[in-house]
Amino acid sequence: MEYNPFTLTGKTVLVTGASSGIGQESAIACSRMGAKVVITARNQERLHATFDQLNPEVEGHMQLLADMTVQQDVERLVGELPKLDGAVLCAGNSMTLPLQFGTREKFDSMFDINFFAPVELLRLMYKKKVLLKGASVVLIASIGGTHSFMPGNGVYGASKAALNSIMRYAAREYAARMVRVNSICPGMVNTPLIHDGTITEEQLAEDAKRYPLGRYGEPTDVANAAIYLLSDASAWMTGHDLVLDGGFSL
Ligand SMILES: NC(=O)c1ccc[n+]([C@@H]2O[C@H](COP(=O)([O-])OP(=O)(O)OC[C@H]3O[C@@H](n4cnc5c(N)ncnc54)[C@H](OP(=O)(O)O)[C@@H]3O)[C@@H](O)[C@H]2O)c1
Repeated sequence: MEYNPFTLTGKTVLVTGASSGIGQESAIACSRMGAKVVITARNQERLHATFDQLNPEVEGHMQLLADMTVQQDVERLVGELPKLDGAVLCAGNSMTLPLQFGTREKFDSMFDINFFAPVELLRLMYKKKVLLKGASVVLIASIGGTHSFMPGNGVYGASKAALNSIMRYAAREYAARMVRVNSICPGMVNTPLIHDGTITEEQLAEDAKRYPLGRYGEPTDVANAAIYLLSDASAWMTGHDLVLDGGFSL
């Protein structure tokens, strides 16, 4: 048999935020590495478009609609999930605004999707034993949570820093069942999230020059790191926040 410690063959992996960007690419890449993939998001049409790109050589992929900020949806999703060897929790959003406009309402909406949603999903998946012994969970955080990477990202950055903090506690507690929990902290990645017009294309091109490796990330860069963390190649790694930013934070 071919030697490949990075294979996901035989594993079942959940990907949230799979209708776009990093989640979409992670779902497709995991299926190409042999995983049966369960994908979820809110937008049926875009989720279906991801489903159509999953590796047809693996049987049993599933697509489940859910709004991660709605408690009943999260509970229903957890009830419908098969037993999992891994999960990539990507569903999230960003917010760019000066801190002086960061009202409690803004913090609440950012923390709802970027912090409370993945934390509640992770809690229920562990409590209800959806996560198998030895499962690996990957939280998609951000360098916004580890560094002050750009002005106007305080609300966003705080939500991701909180996620990184919980990741460490979960890693410590869930090791009791050999469940690993790590996060990936990407710099700017070319997805619809950053190309929504909030920052102009000219400003983005200028900002990309600040990255020592000369470019923003692509969704596949993050997907490949997620594959490593989901695979047995990272079996001794838990509680780590993996900064993935083309050298930006140097
Ligand atoms: N792009 C970057 O530069 C970058 C950098 C660092 C970290 N990140 C993080 O990476 C993650 C993915 O971002 P992306 O760039 O791939 O963004 P994206 O292309 O906008 O994708 C976001 C995904 O999250 C889902 N989502 C949003 N709100 C949701 C909700 N309430 N319930 C369920 N799903 C929801 C969206 O699906 P529906 O709309 O169909 O629900 C979509 O699939 C986010 O957590 C983001 O903060 C991104």
